[in-house]
Amino acid sequence: MEHFAVVQSIARAALTGDRTAAMKQVERLRERLTKAGAVKEAATLERLLGAVEETRELAPSRVEVSRGMVSGERLTAEINPPIDRETGARLCSIDFPKTSQTAPVFSSAVQDTIDGLLQEWASVDALQSVGVEPTRSLLIYGPPGSGKTITARYIGERLGLPLITAKIDGLISSFLGTTARNIANLFDFANRYACVLLLDEFDALAKLRDDPQEIGEIKRVVNTLLQNLDRRREFGITIAITNHDRLLDPAVWRRFETHVHMGEPEMQAREQLIARFLEPIDTGPTTCRIFSYCLAGRSGADLERTCSAVKRALALKNDSHDGPALFRALGEILARAPHLDHLPARILAKDPEAFISLIANDANFGVKQAEIGDATGFGQSRVSDLKKSKRHLSLMDVAHA
Ligand SMILES: Nc1ncnc2c1ncn2[C@@H]1O[C@H](COP(=O)(O)OP(=O)(O)O)[C@@H](O)[C@H]1O
Ligand SMILES: [Mg+2]
Repeated sequence: MEHFAVVQSIARAALTGDRTAAMKQVERLRERLTKAGAVKEAATLERLLGAVEETRELAPSRVEVSRGMVSGERLTAEINPPIDRETGARLCSIDFPKTSQTAPVFSSAVQDTIDGLLQEWASVDALQSVGVEPTRSLLIYGPPGSGKTITARYIGERLGLPLITAKIDGLISSFLGTTARNIANLFDFANRYACVLLLDEFDALAKLRDDPQEIGEIKRVVNTLLQNLDRRREFGITIAITNHDRLLDPAVWRRFETHVHMGEPEMQAREQLIARFLEPIDTGPTTCRIFSYCLAGRSGADLERTCSAVKRALALKNDSHDGPALFRALGEILARAPHLDHLPARILAKDPEAFISLIANDANFGVKQAEIGDATGFGQSRVSDLKKSKRHLSLMDVAHA
């Protein structure tokens, strides 16, 4: 069927709730129809797009945060962030909310927590009628590259508030007393303006604690931090991020009302991320499944890196952008990776035919032989032969030895 690739992209965007991508793909289909002379059909799509634009302007997805709830002056681009007095370095960066930011991909538990938080901020009156306030402090923890920082940014954007980001490392000074002063100055600045305060890489504080010479200073710094976190509750929203939840002082941990753990994406989330990171290449579901199968256990940032490497390889080779080309490129990229602990990835890197035998024999992979044949370029009958060959088994033995 003609234009099927675009239709598929539209379906994917719609099913994953990615409205911006869906609109982009509908626009692509409109262009193709125009080129093909289907003027009437193209005009219909044009009207659809126009109507959506209108409703979008009428109903922004942004949560309206009431002025009484987040106090402070309006932060503008002319306002300079506070600096470290010894070095002159900025203590924080400021980002203003952008519209049409694509949502990160969340597990359902994380999605529920984030939606709940935004819902609270959209329903302040209802909460106050029963004597409670929306959540003002959130701690996000999890391994590097799991999307913690982009999630904090996303929350700031959905709330329509500027984000003041301080990396804790940047507050720590080698001059006695300066660290505590930096913390106090940062909070004073954040409390003065309506904003979300993001304390990124919180674990840096814990590293300080390991230095026996610094005991007195650390106590002072942690106390300053606790006092400022307590006082901050009156002013606005605070998000803290850490890679190592166990390193955090329990007293700091307790200061946060909600804790969210972000981990490595599950299969479905991986497929969604892979389709997104391979854009603008149109990726079929089987190709996404193959990538996801090889990249199980990897972080969102790893998936992004691998997909970028695959796209680079395709572009340089001037190869086509279909499933088989993506499959070959993935194998080459994995073969170049220094250490692959995930068995399917190692098998694909070593022997693509053994990999086909592996997925054709794995009921969990759950894709028909014909589709594996199409997506890899091997064809159905070769896939059937490879399945019978059980060629992957010898590699699995080697791997276990
Ligand atoms: N869940 C996710 N959804 C969307 N993109 C993700 C996700 N996890 C990681 N990424 C990608 O990885 C990059 C690094 O994410 P980041 O938020 O900086 O990770 P962290 O702060 O946890 O180390 C992001 O720019 C994004 O492209
Ligand atoms: Mg981060």
